[in-house]
Amino acid sequence: MRILVTGANGQLGSEFRALTSQHSAEFIFCDVDEMDLSQESSMEQFLANTQSDLIIHCGAYTQVDGAEDQKELAFAINANAPAVIARHCANTGCRLIQVSTDYVFDGTGNMPISEEDRPNAQSVYGASKLEGEKQILSILDNAYIIRTSWVYSVYGKNFVKTMLRLGQERDELNVVVDQAGTPTYAADLAAAILKIVDQWPSNDQPGIYHYSNWGVLSWYDFAKTIFDLAGVKCHVNPISSSGFPVKAQRPAFSVLDKTKIASTFHLDIPYWRDSLKRCLEEIRKMK
Ligand SMILES: NC(=O)c1ccc[n+]([C@@H]2O[C@H](COP(=O)([O-])OP(=O)(O)OC[C@H]3O[C@@H](n4cnc5c(N)ncnc54)[C@H](OP(=O)(O)O)[C@@H]3O)[C@@H](O)[C@H]2O)c1
Repeated sequence: MRILVTGANGQLGSEFRALTSQHSAEFIFCDVDEMDLSQESSMEQFLANTQSDLIIHCGAYTQVDGAEDQKELAFAINANAPAVIARHCANTGCRLIQVSTDYVFDGTGNMPISEEDRPNAQSVYGASKLEGEKQILSILDNAYIIRTSWVYSVYGKNFVKTMLRLGQERDELNVVVDQAGTPTYAADLAAAILKIVDQWPSNDQPGIYHYSNWGVLSWYDFAKTIFDLAGVKCHVNPISSSGFPVKAQRPAFSVLDKTKIASTFHLDIPYWRDSLKRCLEEIRKMK
């Protein structure tokens, strides 16, 4: 099997790169230099020249606040590009796994969000990702859409690495306590996706799935635990999101219900704190 991974220099794409030696598939990796997701004609050309059996689409415009000012670009990359890829898949028989986000939901509930719950994006980023999902589902009936949340990794930019840096620079930090969710170690998500692919064709059940690590916490809990586990002496003050104004509205409660993906594909999803420990250990080794 030849697998094309987009967004290869991002967090999740890099975790796929790290897993290639443990997998029998042939991997092709691309990022903006090979295929600019905002340029439809160059995308079509690249896809036509790159034969693959499966595309794992990790490439995205992920600047949540930036998207409020760059709506057109966010929709080109997060909504139109998935449609271009889906059309390519429809024409060639290539399969598609699209990675999406908890930000397609408004997060006004207080129960884990299932695949049956109605999306209601509150930000341009969330709306653009939701439109990407809709485009794919209107073109393909065998695509997988995997929504995830609060992604971090040893690679790229993320909350864990930002906290480690700020924790060295400052004695105290304010972190929001009134937004709850669950982090996702990108290494776990990449491994889970490959485990799903490995079950094809005997267990191939396209559709929408939710994936994050297990557990429920606030950004404040997350920051405190990062510092505790990494031995960083920085005091964390809990603040409400009104004390930390940002351009894009975030869901207040975006814990994803993982029951469907775990039971359909027999996944052993790690608890968030255990995954965080593994990531911090990897970051320590890389220093
Ligand atoms: N990060 C999160 O917390 C989070 C949460 C939920 C869902 N997700 C979803 O999970 C997936 C993977 O996210 P991630 O955290 O790995 O994101 P990431 O680290 O930002 O990686 C995205 C990659 O896409 C690339 N990209 C941006 N614009 C592009 C363009 N015009 N053409 C080609 N490539 C382009 C980025 O390049 P540059 O870095 O050069 O821009 C980057 O390498 C995405 O679909 C995202 O929406 C992420």
